[in-house]
Amino acid sequence: TPDAHVPRDARLIRLTGVHPFNVEAPLTDLFNEGFLTSPELFYVRNHGAVPQVEEASLFDWEFTVEGLVDRPFKISLRSLMEDYADQIITVPVTLVCAGNRRKEQNMVRKSKGFSWGPGGVSTALFTGVPMSAIIAAAKPTRRARYVCMEGADKLPNGYYGTSVKRNWVQDPNRGIMLAWKMNGELLRPDHGRPLRAVIPGQIGGRSVKWLTKLILTESPSDNWYHINDNRVLPTMVSPEESAADPSWWTDDRYAIYDLNSNSAIAYPAHDEVLPLSTRAVETYDVRGYAYGGGGRRITRVEITLDKGKTWRLAKIDYPEDRYREALENTNLYGGRLDMFWRETSFCWCFWSLAISTDDLAASADIMVRCMDEGLALQPREMYWSALGMMNNPWFRIVIHREN
Ligand code: MTE
Repeated sequence: TPDAHVPRDARLIRLTGVHPFNVEAPLTDLFNEGFLTSPELFYVRNHGAVPQVEEASLFDWEFTVEGLVDRPFKISLRSLMEDYADQIITVPVTLVCAGNRRKEQNMVRKSKGFSWGPGGVSTALFTGVPMSAIIAAAKPTRRARYVCMEGADKLPNGYYGTSVKRNWVQDPNRGIMLAWKMNGELLRPDHGRPLRAVIPGQIGGRSVKWLTKLILTESPSDNWYHINDNRVLPTMVSPEESAADPSWWTDDRYAIYDLNSNSAIAYPAHDEVLPLSTRAVETYDVRGYAYGGGGRRITRVEITLDKGKTWRLAKIDYPEDRYREALENTNLYGGRLDMFWRETSFCWCFWSLAISTDDLAASADIMVRCMDEGLALQPREMYWSALGMMNNPWFRIVIHREN
């Protein structure tokens, strides 16, 4: 395959055959890693072949800042690291593919996308510089409203690219950055080596890897992948209808940016048999993850054993806060955390609830839902759409008991 040069972990589950490389870790393995995902088990979403960069020339990697700017320029990664040395930040960010949990949608009705389980989500400490600083150096004109990004991966319909709003890039509370390190080491090839954009709180598809261009424009990106990917079309539009009528794709109202609230149960796992008849244990700790979008914090996680008639409140741990605290006071990986990061939440959190084995023995299934600080609550019903994205209904595990 074209990616023969890229080392990969055997535990990863391949979702699209041999090539391109799209993988998630089994949920239990991912969850057992804890807050930070090791690069080996970090989910990968590649549309094509991984650009090959020679070890010796990593820091010669160049990207341009162009479009509606008074001072377009080209800069190498080496100069970026030197010129912006006093602005380097390290921040914890959870990346989530918009297709996370799509498998459940495909089981209801086949969408255009491949079947992600609940493992299309991973967290790392990203080190880099705020994108706003780089954009400012190019002196954008007043007409510049969008920042388009382009990667070096050459695909059937051109290079991968997308855009975000310029005012998001300039909002320190959104933490948008260009990063070259993950968890203190240089990015791995699958994750954008040597340089990528990181757009916290938004779908992973906006965080362009192998970055070669930042282009300021008046309108959203006209890149094929921006137009034909990462949308939630109205639910009645079938894949066939959406293919027949291009106006579905150019209507920017259907493009997706901020993540929606979502959660999943890691324990018990889907096929786990619970020790219910022997009563060897009195309680079982039901556990899982939850995340929100746009920097909004998850404020509650609720569990039901009776399909939503009654709910129990789970306990939530936010490891992100401990990392923030540590990062504010040290310069881990050569970067400090900016104070603004105190006010936002860009990472997954972990929840748990001890449930008596008596209660579990009396139930058929366990379901979870979460709510964020904007009161966005996971729905009971699935919102099916042609691309199968942002799937977030209550996550369900069927209780299996010993015979
Ligand atoms: N950037 C480029 N250049 N090419 C890609 O295929 N995939 C996007 C995004 N950036 C992609 C890209 C998608 S859809 C996702 S979800 C994230 O990268 C995945 O990032 P990861 O593979 O590091 O987890």
